Amino acid sequence: NSIHILGISGSLRADSTNTIILNSFQEHLPRHVTFEIFQGLGEFPHFSPELQDTEPVTRFKNAIQQASGVIICTPEYAFGVPGTLKNALDWTVGTGDLNDKPLAVISASPLNSGGDKALASILLTLTALGAKRNEHSALSIPNIKQKIRDGKVTDSETISLLKAQAENLMELISSVQG
Ligand code: FNR
Repeated sequence: NSIHILGISGSLRADSTNTIILNSFQEHLPRHVTFEIFQGLGEFPHFSPELQDTEPVTRFKNAIQQASGVIICTPEYAFGVPGTLKNALDWTVGTGDLNDKPLAVISASPLNSGGDKALASILLTLTALGAKRNEHSALSIPNIKQKIRDGKVTDSETISLLKAQAENLMELISSVQG
């Protein structure tokens, strides 16, 4: 049974540091594991329980359902989770797509705080959604601008932490698949 991991970036920016981290994370997955970053998070309608699922919401839900595990990497905006990401997560509440889904979450920020308030907030949301995590499934990366060069993570400590995140997510996936 093949293993596929879905990456979700909380930033819509073309040069997003969070998307760069997702790409670095992927390099630490075993070779047989496939990886994709979801595209189109900015195109979702504002969630309302009266609305039907349409594209790209259906594509998002299918991508989660088909993934063995999910990695979210997000910036912090105004001490919170970017609205686009929270909106996308709200769309999954009714259908429980993330329930029992092995998941890791990373926040990254140019500030010393590492986006820790957004991380704490999204962890609460992920608890509500029933995502499968353990005590190692969350990582906050401060001062990210100094740890990236030419679109790559260059800081060795951060590289080690991303490797540990990838290994932990693989362990969570194995524990679910048995
Ligand atoms: C920010 N940024 C920010 N950073 C942080 O650590 N805490 C915060 O509350 C905020 N708030 C905030 C609001 C707005 C409107 C902007 C534009 C930015 C800085 C943010 O972390 C920085 O722009 C990152 O580079 C965004 O991540 P990406 O796009 O590089 O992935």
